[in-house]
Amino acid sequence: MPDTITIAVSKGRIFDEAMPLLAKLDIVPKDDPNKSRKLVLETNQPHVRILIIRATDVPTYVERGAAELGIAGKDVLMEYSGDDLYEPLDLGIAQCRMMLAGMKDAKPVSERPRVATKYVNITRNYFAEQGQQVEIIKLYGSMELGPVLGLSDWIVDLVDTGNTLKANGLVTLEHIADISSRLIVNKASMKMKSALIKPMIKNLADVVGEST
Ligand code: ATP
Ligand code: PRP
Repeated sequence: MPDTITIAVSKGRIFDEAMPLLAKLDIVPKDDPNKSRKLVLETNQPHVRILIIRATDVPTYVERGAAELGIAGKDVLMEYSGDDLYEPLDLGIAQCRMMLAGMKDAKPVSERPRVATKYVNITRNYFAEQGQQVEIIKLYGSMELGPVLGLSDWIVDLVDTGNTLKANGLVTLEHIADISSRLIVNKASMKMKSALIKPMIKNLADVVGEST
């Protein structure tokens, strides 16, 4: 629609941390996704709506123009294979670190360690840069179980407090990347709807104290 802006976000942590930022721009959803089953939320601004989708789907919706804007973790963006997105702003929310982790006091691993992760591309690139051969085992969650049950030697996952690793007897081994959530923008919309989008980017940048 010509004069509307659709913002794609995921439910949970990113929605919870992003809404206070949008509220400072006087954009407030009319429904709470924790209480409503609606996937398209209207806001107090008639021309702005919010899509509730899976975190890993946010870049796809934005790149293909189903949403003009999106908010996605850097982990999701690094793993995403498309490259036709603008990423103008680090919102500084949902901060954590992408880490290599393994069992505390684990014995030396084989020549080609097995690494369990849902971040297959990031893991492949990281070890390629290190010149280390690894076998990557794709999982969709609860990666911490990999080394505990002998499925893998290491894991690549997000770490914030470190509580999940500690509770499962794992320790961090290497730091791969600092992660936070970014504003992403569809390239065509940036041109076609610049009168709506550019002020939003500028105002969000002011709110989070970043320069664009
Ligand atoms: P999906 O529903 O597609 O499986 P998800 O479970 O990864 O996605 P969330 O757990 O809400 O979704 O995480 C969303 C984003 O928040 C991640 O992409 C990452 O950038 C960030 N994140 C994940 N875990 C943490 C954490 N423990 N602390 C801070 N930020 C995190
Ligand atoms: C993330 C991540 C770790 C945990 C790390 O999981 O995959 O398991 O957070 O956080 P911590 O260092 O503070 O313990 P999340 O809570 O998002 O669960 P999910 O992967 O099942 O969505």
